[in-house]
Amino acid sequence: MPPYRAPRGTRDLLPAERPAWRALADIARSLSDAYGYREIETPLFEQVDVFERGVGAVTDIIEKELFRIAPRTEDAEVWALRPEGTAGIVRAYVQHGMQTWPQPVRLMLLGPMFRYDRPQAGRYRQFWQWDIEAIGDAGPAIDAEIIELGLRFYREAGLEDVEVHLNSIGDPGCRPAYIEALGAFYAKRLDELPPHERERLATNPLRLLDSKDPALVRINVDAPVITEHLCDACADHFAEVKDHLDALGVEHRPETGLVRGLDYYTRTAFEYYRRGREGQQQALGGGGRYDGLVELLGGKHTPGIGFALGLDRVILTQQDAGVEVPSVRPPIAVVVGADPGGTAERLRVATDLRAEGLPVRADLAIRKLGRQLEAAAREGSRFAIILGDELSEGNVQLRDLEAASQKVVAIDDLPALLLRKSQGS
Ligand code: HAM
Repeated sequence: MPPYRAPRGTRDLLPAERPAWRALADIARSLSDAYGYREIETPLFEQVDVFERGVGAVTDIIEKELFRIAPRTEDAEVWALRPEGTAGIVRAYVQHGMQTWPQPVRLMLLGPMFRYDRPQAGRYRQFWQWDIEAIGDAGPAIDAEIIELGLRFYREAGLEDVEVHLNSIGDPGCRPAYIEALGAFYAKRLDELPPHERERLATNPLRLLDSKDPALVRINVDAPVITEHLCDACADHFAEVKDHLDALGVEHRPETGLVRGLDYYTRTAFEYYRRGREGQQQALGGGGRYDGLVELLGGKHTPGIGFALGLDRVILTQQDAGVEVPSVRPPIAVVVGADPGGTAERLRVATDLRAEGLPVRADLAIRKLGRQLEAAAREGSRFAIILGDELSEGNVQLRDLEAASQKVVAIDDLPALLLRKSQGS
């Protein structure tokens, strides 16, 4: 047993896995470009306040899952690793005066997030999100743009059966009356509530709605429905979001129990699931509108909406669905030599070819030609460039390791020839 392992809930992403991740990042970046969302990078840690005020102090993410960083001195700021991207992005929006930029400001962030969650399949303590935010637009059209963008990502990642679950959770004007109605509903059934859910009733009754506890699932069938308690403005907004999605031909599944686990949401709330896999751990992504968040973090009142897609779960789902993903690409050629000690020559030839943009490796071990060729074949390289006596006349042997054929080639002709081969002709 090795003495050290990656911390529980984290894992090493080994070279064989990385091409699939890279492909997802490429899709995310090219879609962000196409839709006009510009990349932003925020620190991996922020003042705890940013998350407590932003995400909400009485949420699982803050109460149980925040990775707090032990301060080094007593009067130092208290920091935490970011559990999600939105609060930090909105902090940056306020800090950099983005209110004065053309609105909305469309931003994207791709990076790791940290939650001290109980690790299980698809639930990690370090995980990756693709985060999209549009700040400074009250919608409803942008809500539809963003929801469709998420679906487009899944389609391009080969997951055709992802659908969006949609709800509106009202705003600070109409939600309190609904929460009161909900509280009264649960209060009448207090005896039937599991103890931990009874505690949540006092702090955040909305969260009982999307509980997966079988007792609550039964009770919730009769619970008051939020969309029937929306004020006119929220109800109109929700209707228009749906109209815009219909206009785009985007199917959306109404889900009145969808309330999201973060406090900043107002109005539109949504999550992405594979059809038939709606368990709590299976949300592939989620988002919604947060019209009060900029103000909460010190800016002036500015509406906003966004989503975060969980890339770890996308990768797992691709594997589960048998989606073909890219694998590690071997070099097109390995430079080997008849003289085991001729590493300088091998390195020079490979370096020159790499300068021409070709993925070529040199065998730098001092070993016999046969062993060098074996290693090149095992790596999956298509060609071996064999340096021998011909080198003095500017020639090499080019061995096709797949066809097991060999011919003499002028060293000057190698770049063009290998380029043609690497492009598949
Ligand atoms: P969230 O629903 O907390 O939303 O997370 C979004 C997605 O991140 C989840 O649907 C899931 O795919 C993934 N995820 C969350 N926790 C974990 C975990 N422990 N392990 C693996 N994957 C995980 C947010 O984070 C909001 N900031 C989204 C948003 C952006 N809302 C508005 N703008």
